[in-house]
Amino acid sequence: MNQAVWSAVDGYFCEELVGNDPVLLEALRVSDAAGLPPHQVTPNQGKLLHLLARLSRARTILEIGTLGGYSTLWLARALPDDGVLISLEANPEHAVVAKSNIARAGLAHKVDIRVGEALQLLPLLANEAGRFDFIFIDADKPNNPRYLEWSLRLARCGTVIIGDNVVRDGAVVDATSSDPSVIGVRDFIACMAGNPRLSATAIQTVGSKGYDGWSLALVTA
Ligand code: SAH
Ligand code: DHB
Ligand code: MG
Repeated sequence: MNQAVWSAVDGYFCEELVGNDPVLLEALRVSDAAGLPPHQVTPNQGKLLHLLARLSRARTILEIGTLGGYSTLWLARALPDDGVLISLEANPEHAVVAKSNIARAGLAHKVDIRVGEALQLLPLLANEAGRFDFIFIDADKPNNPRYLEWSLRLARCGTVIIGDNVVRDGAVVDATSSDPSVIGVRDFIACMAGNPRLSATAIQTVGSKGYDGWSLALVTA
């Protein structure tokens, strides 16, 4: 099996099950035209995020790592009318693109994109501890253990915490790796494993973005 097959199968599933929503396609086109890296979730992963947020009946979502707002759009569409999504993005150029994509989708009233280093912005949410129903961690991987700590402070019993890019082409199994992203992901997994408030798993994925995976955790206490 190879990348061509994975991409073809993703294409098939997306064609059949995800569709070609013009607002989402335009967000991808605008992000690409603005020179943003193609690091957004795939369309079928975006739909999975959307479905998971709906399954958990999320009314408040926190996202760490906005890029052009593609995952943000999928998640915001899962919210009820009075729902709120706060997304943190360090790169102001990415945030500008994301804000335009969110506005074009008519979702600006639900989405609050905050610009800055996530570790600077997260303490500003401290008085909203326990508020978030659903958290998507998808920024700089070396900080994943810190993002998990903050997520736990901001979560309640029942909150779902998803982490993107936890496989890194298989490098995650290398306990001797000096790659800060691999170290960050391994510490993140270890923190999830060791935290009695969490029940977690991780799943390897293949698709149009190659070989990677997600972690998924439920806050149980
Ligand atoms: N969630 C997006 C993809 C995010 S890519 C999607 O699926 O559509 C990762 C993003 O995290 C990039 O835009 C990058 O600028 C941002 N990022 C990297 N380090 C960060 C930090 N320390 N704080 C906040 N955002 C950061
Ligand atoms: C990168 C970051 C991501 O969040 C992703 O999904 C893919 C790639 C990156 O920084 O290379
Ligand atoms: Mg990612």
